[in-house]
Amino acid sequence: MVSIRGASRRFSGGHYGVRGITLDVSRGETLVVMGPSGSGKSTLLRCVNGLERLDEGEIIIDGMRVNHETTDWNKVREEVGMVFQGFHLFPNRTALENLTLPQTVVRRRPAAEAKTVARALLDRVGLGGKESRFPAELSGGEKQRVAIARALAMNPKIMLFDEPTSALDPEMILEVLEVMRDLAGEGMTMLVVTHEIGFAREVAQRAVFLDEGLLVEAGPARDLIDRPETARCRAFMQRILRRPGGESVRPGPASESSWT
Ligand SMILES: Nc1ncnc2c1ncn2[C@@H]1O[C@H](COP(=O)(O)OP(=O)(O)O)[C@@H](O)[C@H]1O
Ligand SMILES: [Mg+2]
Repeated sequence: MVSIRGASRRFSGGHYGVRGITLDVSRGETLVVMGPSGSGKSTLLRCVNGLERLDEGEIIIDGMRVNHETTDWNKVREEVGMVFQGFHLFPNRTALENLTLPQTVVRRRPAAEAKTVARALLDRVGLGGKESRFPAELSGGEKQRVAIARALAMNPKIMLFDEPTSALDPEMILEVLEVMRDLAGEGMTMLVVTHEIGFAREVAQRAVFLDEGLLVEAGPARDLIDRPETARCRAFMQRILRRPGGESVRPGPASESSWT
């Protein structure tokens, strides 16, 4: 579904955001991206959805070349859904309007059809009764669920999540992760930047570890977390498992499906 080949993005001063990243994401796969702050996780996602141009390499999404002079940017925006740490909702629009607006503008759907799609998706993320609320009248977890529903309204082929729960209070993290787990279970292809170890272990097939713009290690998610092969990845995993609350996100017995 996604093929990333030798992707590099250099910023002014010759500093690399990402450097020579090669990575494939299969159809229906959830791949988790981990790494310390400044390691290039956001830059990688921004290159995949065309918010950031590539200096070297190529990215192909389901046969469509991104980041090229021939790229149809509207098409990329339709096909690649993105969810940010800070929600990025339209503040002066209701939850429903946040979902209908991009559908009518980018997908050119008739208003009535856009509304039907929006209502069904808000229902699906558990916000059926809150269609006419403005973002300021929603909790962080609710805002993030609106943002996920808004991205889904475009019928994307792939969903990118950039630390979707990092700005949330602990009690709201789970409700967002649950929506993401359902989405993964329904076969969505997802590229997720997160340090939620429990989610990575239970939902992701594979994980990659970035450091200083380089892809340092890749493997099955559980192996990368429990048995990192490189010293850098091992040190990082030890740090995040030791942080406050780090132990609590470790999975319990197999019968327990909660992440907390
Ligand atoms: N627009 C930009 N201009 C210059 N440097 C940038 C820009 N965006 C990111 N960087 C740099 O690129 C590196 C990777 O950043 P980023 O992808 O945001 O890391 P992460 O998401 O892993 O924290 C950092 O050193 C950051 O300072
Ligand atoms: Mg980031």
